[in-house]
Amino acid sequence: MSNARQAQHPIASSFTARWSPRAFDGQPLSEARMRSLFEAARWAPSAYNFQPWRFCYALAGTPHFEDFVALLVPANQAWARHAGALVAVLSQSTRTAADGAEQPFPSHAFDTGAAWMSLAMQAYDMGLATHAMGGFDAERARRYLRLPANVAIHAFVAIGQRGDASALPEALQAREQASDRNPQAGWVFEGPMA
Ligand SMILES: Cc1cc2nc3c(=O)[nH]c(=O)nc-3n(C[C@H](O)[C@H](O)[C@H](O)COP(=O)(O)O)c2cc1C
Repeated sequence: MSNARQAQHPIASSFTARWSPRAFDGQPLSEARMRSLFEAARWAPSAYNFQPWRFCYALAGTPHFEDFVALLVPANQAWARHAGALVAVLSQSTRTAADGAEQPFPSHAFDTGAAWMSLAMQAYDMGLATHAMGGFDAERARRYLRLPANVAIHAFVAIGQRGDASALPEALQAREQASDRNPQAGWVFEGPMA
């Protein structure tokens, strides 16, 4: 890991130790491990405890996995095809009101962001790496996953045991290190923002 990851205030070490590598060993994840990952997501907080998150997954070595890989942009396919599983992060953007009408559920993306991070931290705890990807063909993914109009698609996540970086395309080998973050001064404000 890069030594760029220095917390500027005391925090649990998992927050800086988790990062998003691209080198995976290609070993499929077990169903049991997938269930633990989704279980962590299950306990995320959400408005009204509505739990708007939805996930579709594919394990390495299955026909679904090949199909999931094909939905990614080529730059992501190059490395994500060696993951042990791919997960599509989805959320239901509406909620049925008492009168039966479908109403927008404004925090669907916010709540699902929390769920994905819970999954990522659980994966870290299990010795697994995760890497989210916004680089995918959204229209094709919606069709393939048969998403109803009120289900949003946010990202795919590659999950697996870390692999050898030397197996990555050369351009990605140099990027196989943890990144730094902006200092709090630019994005935390006591009272109003300006
Ligand atoms: C919504 C989202 C979309 C992302 N899309 C991609 C992507 O398409 N390809 C990629 O290689 N990394 C992608 N990333 C990974 C980020 O670049 C990475 O999380 C960020 O640089 C912070 O690094 P870290 O996760 O190692 O701390 C994405 C991350 C998120 C959360």
